Amino acid sequence: MKILVLHGPNLNLLGTREPGLYGRETLKDINEAIGKLAGELGVSVECRQSNMEGELVTWIQEAVGHYQGVVMNPAAYTHTSVALRDAVLAVGIPFIEVHLSNIHTRESFRRRSFLAPVAVGQISGFGMTSYLLGLRAVVAVLQQKPAR
Ligand code: DQA
Repeated sequence: MKILVLHGPNLNLLGTREPGLYGRETLKDINEAIGKLAGELGVSVECRQSNMEGELVTWIQEAVGHYQGVVMNPAAYTHTSVALRDAVLAVGIPFIEVHLSNIHTRESFRRRSFLAPVAVGQISGFGMTSYLLGLRAVVAVLQQKPAR
């Protein structure tokens, strides 16, 4: 089972970007933790980050036939991107939306997600653990059993 993990814009700055909100872990730390959990769960993962909406769209399109599930933190594109939503719908690969911060406790514009209605589910507010829960969730969905 191969899972694609996508990080959206500005997440390359994690570690120094608003650490009170997003934590002190770097993207490298997060990707290492994801890789470790993937090993424990017996799945393979590929982690990618882009600041460009079109590149994320292309990666979702290209996932067909290569990845069985997608975990994505669309970052600011969560609140703006019809293109990412359409890409997820077009490929039909199970997708879990994750956020480091709890987007529902922040500014009102962050409460709206264009992606959530086409996701299997959304995990928001657990810092780096949101990604780990997202990975467990997508694996559980693909194995059709409760997350463990
Ligand atoms: C974020 C929340 C978004 O609103 C914000 O634009 C981000 C990060 C999060 O992980 O909490 O860049 O997706």
